[in-house]
Amino acid sequence: MSPTDGPSPPYDRPVRVERRAVDEAESRHANGPDWDRYADEYQATHGPFLGDAGFVWGPEGLTEDQAGVLGDVSGKDVLEVGSGAGQCSRWVREHGGRGFGVDLSFRQLQHGRRLDDATGVPVPSAQATATALPFRDDSFDVVFSSFGALQFVSDLEAAVAETARVLRPGGRYAFSITHPTRWMFPDDPGQPGLTASQSYWDRTPYVEVEDRTGEVAYVEHHRTLGDWVSLLAAEGFRLTDLLEPEWPEGHERVWGGWSRLRGRLTPGTALFGADWEPR
Ligand SMILES: C[S@@+](CC[C@H](N)C(=O)[O-])C[C@H]1O[C@@H](n2cnc3c(N)ncnc32)[C@H](O)[C@@H]1O
Repeated sequence: MSPTDGPSPPYDRPVRVERRAVDEAESRHANGPDWDRYADEYQATHGPFLGDAGFVWGPEGLTEDQAGVLGDVSGKDVLEVGSGAGQCSRWVREHGGRGFGVDLSFRQLQHGRRLDDATGVPVPSAQATATALPFRDDSFDVVFSSFGALQFVSDLEAAVAETARVLRPGGRYAFSITHPTRWMFPDDPGQPGLTASQSYWDRTPYVEVEDRTGEVAYVEHHRTLGDWVSLLAAEGFRLTDLLEPEWPEGHERVWGGWSRLRGRLTPGTALFGADWEPR
């Protein structure tokens, strides 16, 4: 079981869990195919909650309509990194923005095509990685990720630098991730998920290794809140928002390790908003 809602084997491939260093190439090599394998189950399980043209920032159900972290997207060029099936970008398009998607997983992008047809709101998307965005400098007014890409990337400096590169001066960056404090706890929606069992400061990645082949099958990386602030500042971003959505009354949905039991006591999602000015 991964610490977030990563693709813990829904498919029949036994894996063992390790903690060890994994570089960018190995992370990408593992996570692309893994999200391909997981995509059908991910969309079947979470698609109705996300909404075909909905914008949800995380398992608590906070929407961009409620959060307003991106600002007015109307008339703007907006890139979603780790776009999955492009639900959020479709919301952007329905709000007058020119939404585009990038995702590592071909199967996730195929689900995007399915939703393009179903909704009549197509989201132009490319298969690519967050650390090498296939766009010219100064292409977008807004870049965002809703639990997309960032915690699967080893070279996060490169991903943030790529975001700065493709943003226009005065651009907006927003992203949600698993709240870094969750790293301390087992990824369990029940009682075991309430007892801290490992160090918050231990950045050693969570790795699933396939038993049969010894290949890395899935990787997740961790940074502390302080790491995130430093990374953003180093690229010239000015942090304006750090939202920690509370678990709403009456919300009973369990998503991986997220549940009402845990959500009432500890934050499960961190949502950052930042402005970018070239130096
Ligand atoms: C938890 S899903 C979120 C997808 C979408 N934002 C949503 O809310 O459904 C994470 C997505 O990140 C993508 N991803 C993982 N590593 C990536 C990378 N290095 N570059 C781009 N996308 C990546 C996965 O393929 C997956 O679609």
